[in-house]
Amino acid sequence: MPGESALIAAEGVGYTFPDGVVALDTVDLRVAAGERVALIGANGAGKSTLLLALAELLPVAGKVSRDPGCRVAIVFQDPDDQLFMPSVIDEVAFAPLNRGVAKEEARDRSLAALERFDLGGLEDRHPSALSLGQRKRLCLAVAMAMEPGLLLLDEPFAGLDPAGCRDLAGWLRSLDTGFVLATHNLPLAAELTARCVTLAGGRVGAEGPTAEIVADATTLRALGL
Ligand SMILES: Nc1ncnc2c1ncn2[C@@H]1O[C@H](COP(=O)(O)OP(=O)(O)OP(=O)(O)O)[C@@H](O)[C@H]1O
Ligand SMILES: [Mg+2]
Repeated sequence: MPGESALIAAEGVGYTFPDGVVALDTVDLRVAAGERVALIGANGAGKSTLLLALAELLPVAGKVSRDPGCRVAIVFQDPDDQLFMPSVIDEVAFAPLNRGVAKEEARDRSLAALERFDLGGLEDRHPSALSLGQRKRLCLAVAMAMEPGLLLLDEPFAGLDPAGCRDLAGWLRSLDTGFVLATHNLPLAAELTARCVTLAGGRVGAEGPTAEIVADATTLRALGL
């Protein structure tokens, strides 16, 4: 079967919000193991909805199939949609504890993860007492604590200062895990991903090498970017 090795595949995926807004319309997308894909499009194009569909969090029309051995972790566009525990460390320890990792071990791993995302020393804070950039980084630490086979990243650079963007880009570059990256940061999309999928009005438009797409003024204008 062609493309049998896809980790995740959307076929003819559609989603209409209860108020009648058609957010996705017959979307096809396959992501292979280790692949890095940029998802670009104007505000309201359907990027966040597509990531939610790929994470199997929406009752979509069509089909989303996933390799059963692959855990998918999503980083929501708005950290407040993701964070729900009373402390930073509890957020990061939630997934390992859920998987049966012993308490001490989960704490050690979580503290190491917080260091890695430059959140060391903040483990006892309430997540709401972090800055937006810190909450975004915490969401990444939480997602990685799931040990995912694929990451779905919704605007991970939004709200980060330039140094934070550079750090995050460097860290994403170093990952073995593949990802789908929804972003308005076209230079970083080109730096981090080989393939780009464009969305407009809930439909997939141009697809191709990210460097070519983000340099193509005609395509960008058609996308409203
Ligand atoms: N909860 C909701 N109820 C109704 N319509 C919604 C809801 N969330 C999103 N939409 C609509 O669905 C469409 C796609 O929205 P989505 O959030 O997926 O876009 P996006 O590409 O992620 O945009 P942005 O770049 O602003 O994050 C838009 O028309 C939006 O107004
Ligand atoms: Mg969005």
